[in-house]
Amino acid sequence: MKIAIASDHGGFQLKTYIATYLAEQGYAYEDFGTMSAESVDYPDFALLAATAVASGDCDLGIICCGTGIGVSIVANKVKGIRAANCHDTFSARLSREHNDANVLTLGERVIGRGLALEVVDAFLQGRYASGRHACRVEKIIEIEATFCGERKPAP
Ligand code: RB5
Repeated sequence: MKIAIASDHGGFQLKTYIATYLAEQGYAYEDFGTMSAESVDYPDFALLAATAVASGDCDLGIICCGTGIGVSIVANKVKGIRAANCHDTFSARLSREHNDANVLTLGERVIGRGLALEVVDAFLQGRYASGRHACRVEKIIEIEATFCGERKPAP
C-alpha cells in the first residue's frame, strides 16, 4: 500500500507530522509537496496527490490545507476520487466503510495533531463494507460519468 500525501502552506506542518507518523508505522508514502510554508495555491498540490490515487500509482491519499475544504473540493473533481474531509475518527472510519473514500482531507487550522493521527489511523484501517453501500457508491460513479464529461445526461 502506498499513500499519496500533499498540502498547501496552510497544511504543511500537519502534512510533515503525518509523514513522520506514516514512516514510523511502516507505511510507504509519496510526498507531492508543498515542501515549505511559503504561500502556494492548494489546487496545484491537491491535484497531484489526487491524480496519483486516481491513476493507481498510490492506493490512498491524505491531503492537508488550512481547513481541509479546498483540497477536498479539488480532489473530488478528479475522476475516481472520493475525498472525505474528516476531523473525527467516526467519520473517517465510515468514509471508508460506507463511501469507499480513497482520499482523506484534513485542516491544520481545525484539528490538533494528536487527534489528526487518530483520524489518519481510522481512515487507513477502515475497510469498505460493500453490501448495501455498493449500489450507492455505484450511483456516485454513475453521476460522475454522466455529469463530469464522460457522457451527456439522458434527455
Ligand atoms: C490558505 O490560506 C487556505 O485558504 C487554504 O489552506 C485552505 O484552508 C483552503 O481551503
